[in-house]
Order: sequence, then C-alpha cells, then structure tokens
Amino acid sequence: MKYLIDSANLEEIRHGNEFYPIAGVTTNPTLVAKEETDLKALISDLRGIIGGKKMLHVQTTAKKAEGIVREAELLSDTAGGDFYVKIPIGEEGLKAASILKKRGIGVTMTAIFTPQQALLAANAGADFVAPYVNRLDNISANGVQTVEEIVRLFDIYMLECQVLAASFKNVRQLHEVALAGAHCATVSGGLLLSAASHPMTDSAVQGFDRDWAAAYGSRSVADLLK
Ligand code: E4P
Repeated sequence: MKYLIDSANLEEIRHGNEFYPIAGVTTNPTLVAKEETDLKALISDLRGIIGGKKMLHVQTTAKKAEGIVREAELLSDTAGGDFYVKIPIGEEGLKAASILKKRGIGVTMTAIFTPQQALLAANAGADFVAPYVNRLDNISANGVQTVEEIVRLFDIYMLECQVLAASFKNVRQLHEVALAGAHCATVSGGLLLSAASHPMTDSAVQGFDRDWAAAYGSRSVADLLK
C-alpha cells in the first residue's frame, strides 16, 4: 500500500515529503480553504515541493459535468506532472469522468461511501476511488469492510481502478485497509508520525544509548570510525 499526505499545508507537506516515503499528496476544498491562500500559487508550490513524478490530487467544486471538465483541465494545466482531478461521485461527476478519461486527464472519484458507487466510478474510467473510512465508522457503518468489498469487486471484474482509502482517525483503520488490499491510503502528517512510532521503540533506543554511553561516553559511531 502506498501512502499519500492528505493536506494543503505547505509545511506539513514539506515535512512529510522529506521524512516519509510518500507517493503524493491529496487535497480537498476544506483543506485548501483552511490555508486562505491563492489557489494557483498553492498548487504550484505544492508541485514544487513534491516534484513532477509524485501524484497530486486536487478537487473540483463545479456542480455540472461541463464545469467539472473545465476546472479539471485548468487544474491539470496548473499542476502538471502526475496529476489526478478529484471529483465527487454523482451523475454529473460520472459524466465528467468519462469525458476526462477520453481527454487523457487522470480522475480520482471521491466522497465514496458504498461499493456500488466505487464500481460505477471504475466503469466510468476513474483511475482511483476514495472511500471515506472514518466518516463511515462515525455513522456506525464499517469503513474497512467497505474498502474490502471495493477491492474484491475490482478484483472480480479485473478493473484497473485503484482504491485510495481516505478519511482516517487512527493507525488501526490504516492497518486494516492495508490488510484489505487498498492500493493507497491518504493520511495527515500526524497519522504518519503515529504509524511510524511506538513507545517500545523509544525504550529500545534509550537502552542502546545507555549501554553505548557506558562503554564509549559521548563518542559516536562516526567518531570511532574516523
Ligand atoms: C479524501 O479525499 C478527503 O480529502 C479526506 O481524506 C477526508 O478526510 P476527513 O474525513 O478526515 O475530512
């Protein structure tokens, strides 16, 4: 499973891109609005940080297919590189996805809450579907099971569409979608840190440091090998 950062905050993205093996960045209108900045400059800066080879997913806000297609083309021109336009699932979104597929623009169909929405999106030519795991859990549904069923449907029908699981609150959800076969997961910088951390790791490193210092004082490995 590949990891992406779900953010529009340049600092968070810069940090995530420097320290973690991320495959790209996803944003949504809420995340962009939080930054209160110029959209065009934000997209260029963002692309500048991750480079052209990593995926960048940016969402449209138009409601009609023609408007979505127009926004997708403008976003694609602005973002360049490996770009995917995020479009919320629905009649207009599905129509726009089919048009964009023929025009060679990558599509991520987002705000997916059921396997049937995902199957329709894949049939319309979407490259990715983004099921919202935590938002499903929050309404007493089962986000991980939904991801599992989408992965199974794509396998059964040999669809190339990939599952980009989104909306996470904790590492358990992240781990369970990985086991369910999600191709990608997009998470906050904070959740990446939680996934990389463990108190037993900290205590193991403290033990190594203590034993090392008892034998070599403040000298490091590099000092001893100079
Ligand atoms: C994904 O496309 C969305 O940007 C996002 O993951 C939604 O996450 P939230 O439920 O934490 O807002």
